Formats: sequence, structure tokens, C-alpha cells
Amino acid sequence: MNIKEIISSLPIGTNIQLNGWVRTFRNEQFIALNDGSCISNLQVVVNADSLSEEDSKRIHTGACISVHGTLTESLGKGQAIELTASKVEILGESNPNEFPIQMKKHSLEFLREKAHLRFRTSTFSAVFRLRHQLSFAIHNYFNQNGFVNIHAPIITGSDAEGAGEMFTVSNFDLENPPRKEDGTIDFGEDFFGKHTHLTVSGQLEAELAALALGKVYTFGPTFRAENSNTSRHLAEFWMIEPEVAFNDLAANADLAEDFLKYCIRYVLENGKEDLLFLQEREATEDKQKPTEERQTAPLIERLEFVANNTFERITYTEAIDILLNSSHYKKKKFKYPVEWGIDLQSEHERFLVEKHFQKPVILTNYPAGIKAFYMRMNEDQKTVAAMDILVPGIGEIIGGSQREERYEMLLEKCKQFNIPEESMWWYLETRKFGTCQHAGFGLGFERLVMYVTGMTNIRDVIPFPRTPKNAEF
Ligand code: 4AD
Ligand code: MG
Repeated sequence: MNIKEIISSLPIGTNIQLNGWVRTFRNEQFIALNDGSCISNLQVVVNADSLSEEDSKRIHTGACISVHGTLTESLGKGQAIELTASKVEILGESNPNEFPIQMKKHSLEFLREKAHLRFRTSTFSAVFRLRHQLSFAIHNYFNQNGFVNIHAPIITGSDAEGAGEMFTVSNFDLENPPRKEDGTIDFGEDFFGKHTHLTVSGQLEAELAALALGKVYTFGPTFRAENSNTSRHLAEFWMIEPEVAFNDLAANADLAEDFLKYCIRYVLENGKEDLLFLQEREATEDKQKPTEERQTAPLIERLEFVANNTFERITYTEAIDILLNSSHYKKKKFKYPVEWGIDLQSEHERFLVEKHFQKPVILTNYPAGIKAFYMRMNEDQKTVAAMDILVPGIGEIIGGSQREERYEMLLEKCKQFNIPEESMWWYLETRKFGTCQHAGFGLGFERLVMYVTGMTNIRDVIPFPRTPKNAEF
């Protein structure tokens, strides 16, 4: 039995063996034991018979122990049940002078440096259990709706987003790579016989599969060598990319909204205890912050609101009008300029969702020039059938589009974006053989985990974050 099962079924009188890690050891009598199955600790009561004086001195915060004993009703406050030990075995000691995680509150920054041990804290165990719940919910959603999970390659020769933010994959001797006559590196001699990278997105491959299997999704690691040291960017993050044949932009938006709501409802139903803990934590943190930076409602209330209300849908052009007519703009409070054609900055996105609409917003039909080559050109020849979903506190959580399915148009777009036709021959061929309308989107998994847990830095929702100048652990 683990602590989660014990607390939910209260099997008083049962003899059990329980392994876990010591959170605290009080008065040489009470051990708060945690086994990771849930946020709660189980109180272990020891005496001279179950734990010798000598062994008692070896138990400190962080130690791993195995306890034999009987589950008894607890007279202490804060718990209904406790474990009266008959025997305690020390599996792994923890030197109190060296173990960095103490019961006092540590900053998240400090714990990031101790990512190998931060799983042992209540905050991070809650975050990573919820991360698991979300991952499970995602697979559940697509499975129940008839989608096929496609494993897109991690090593690729193409740049799906065309932003050039890629990590090269090579087994060349970096000191001495083979060179062509003109002095440039000869990737023809490299492992794959061409210049390859870590993928930035599984979308292009998902499209190939969707144009045969109908409804597919990928869920894998993606990599971006963008040098942005923000609280919302990682160099390695996980992305979920559904792709659906015959869907147009509106159907794509419907799918995205339904999917996000399902994920949120799933954690509300299955992760309530961890959510409550993080909600408490957020409220405590908020007390230290200036009023304008505080949350407007408690975490669970915010999630329930999203699950139960329709997302706002507006076009990019409407969004620009809202921004231009805002008093925020008139008082010159935006740092970046606002005009039709700009790529919205995070201050603009956050104004729309946090101040103006105060709910998630689906923004559609962006100017063609600021979006990727594969997005479908609209009738106006100025905008593309793009769709971003913006949420309070995060900004962009989903980016997607209806795809350009017309061969000639796509070829033209490749030219405009300087994408060599021969590198995309396989993608282009799907538009020659049985092409059809289709659409999809990408959800940044860590941004979803941030949204659901209320954590404000993306480095705190992935076990081992990869960011510029940091790949420890
Ligand atoms: O908007 P993006 O770049 O879209 C794509 O990659 C498309 N191929 C998706 C598709 O249509 N199939 O990225 C999608 C999402 C963003 O909305 C954001 O949530 C997340 O991925 N994302 C990042 N998350 C963490 N760190 C980064 N550096 C991210 N870049 C994008
Ligand atoms: Mg995007």
C-alpha cells in the first residue's frame, strides 16, 4: 500500500510495510514520511522498541526508510490515520549538514540549481504529478476521438517553421570537418549525407500521415535554438500536434478549444489535491507581491472558469483595432508599436486576454508575412488562415492553421520564403497526389502545465530545463 491508498481507504488495524523519505523527525517520536504517491505525508510513530537510540540519531530530513507497523487512528490533529511502527529500517541516510532541501521554504531559483533533489519537495512533486495527469489526459482525449498517435522523427533535414532556429546534428570531428573546395563544410560527408537538425516541430510529418489516416497527433520533444531567456521559452520542450484531414480553420479552432477544456477538466477531476496545494502556495506567494501582479481569482476557480466558458474568437485585424482604441495605447503604455502587419508582442497578447477579454482568445487570420510558409492564403491575398490561442498569464499557448493544400500556391510560398523545392519534394508531393483541405495546431506542453499549475516560470514545470547556457543534469 502507498500513502495515497492508505489515506483514501483508511484501513485501520492493517499491518503494512511502507517505504519513503523522511520530511521531518520530531521529538525522536514522530516521523513525517512521504512516498511520492500524493501530497500528504503519513505520520510514523516510533518508540524505543521499533527504533534503537543509535538508529534514531541516524534519521534526518531526506533519509530513506522502510517501516513495518500497524495503521492506527491518529489522535494528533491534521491526520486521521498514522502508522505505529514495530520496526524501522534505514535504507539510505541523509547527512543533515549536507542535504540542501530543508523544511524551511526555499526559493524556486535555489531549487532549480538542485533539480536532482527538488522532486522531494511538495511543490515539485505536485507539479510533476499534474504534468503526468495532463500527459495522460492528452493521450486519452485523442484516443477517445479516433486519432492515431504518430511518432515524428527527432532528427530531420527540414526546418518546418522556417525560422532557422535549429541545432545541428552531426558526428563530424568539430575540429576538422571535411570541407568543399570553396571552404564550406561538406555535409554530404556527414552521418546522414546531408545537413540535419533536431526537429522544431513534427507538423510536416504529421500532415503526411493525416493525408492517409485522417486524424493523427504527435506528442514529442521539439528543439529551438532561439536565444530567448524568458520565463516562457525552453530550448527543449514537448509539443502536441494534432492534424486533421478535411478540417478548415473553424473546425481546427473547435478542436483546440474542446481539447484544452477536456485537459483542464481532467486535472480538476483527477488532480484536485495537488491543485489545492498549489493554489494555497500561490496565495501565499501573492501576499508578497504588489496588488497589480496578484492573481484575480484562486487557481481552481480560474481553471473552472476556462472549462465552463467559450473562448473569444476574433481576427488579427479586429485585435489590432482593439489595441489601437484602448486607453492603454492612447496613454502610450505599450513599449512596442501597434499597427496592422506587426507580429504581436507578448504585452499586446496579454493586454487582449488579461485586460480586455479576461478569458482565452482565439486570434485568426494573421498577415501572411509574419507567419510560416505552410499556412493557407486567404481570399484577400493578404492574410493566412492562422490561429493562435492566447490565455491569461501565459500569452500564446497554441499556434496552428489551415494548411496550404494547393500545389501551385505552396510552391510559390516556398519560393517567397527561400525554401529550396528539392528539400521539400516529399511535402509538395502530397499536394500533387490526392490533396485536400486539412488543418492542425501545436500546443506547447510546458505552457499548458504552467497554465494548469499556476507556476510562473517554464523552468519549474519540466524536470530538467534546457535554456541558453544551461544543460545541467
Ligand atoms: O507556434 P509554434 O511555433 O507552431 C508550430 O510549431 C506549428 N508547427 C504547430 C502546428 O501547427 N502543428 O509552436 C506551437 C506552440 C506555441 O504556441 C507554444 O505554446 C509552444 O509551442 N512553444 C514553445 N514552448 C516553450 N518554449 C519554446 N521555445 C516554444 N516555442 C513554441
Ligand atoms: Mg506560434
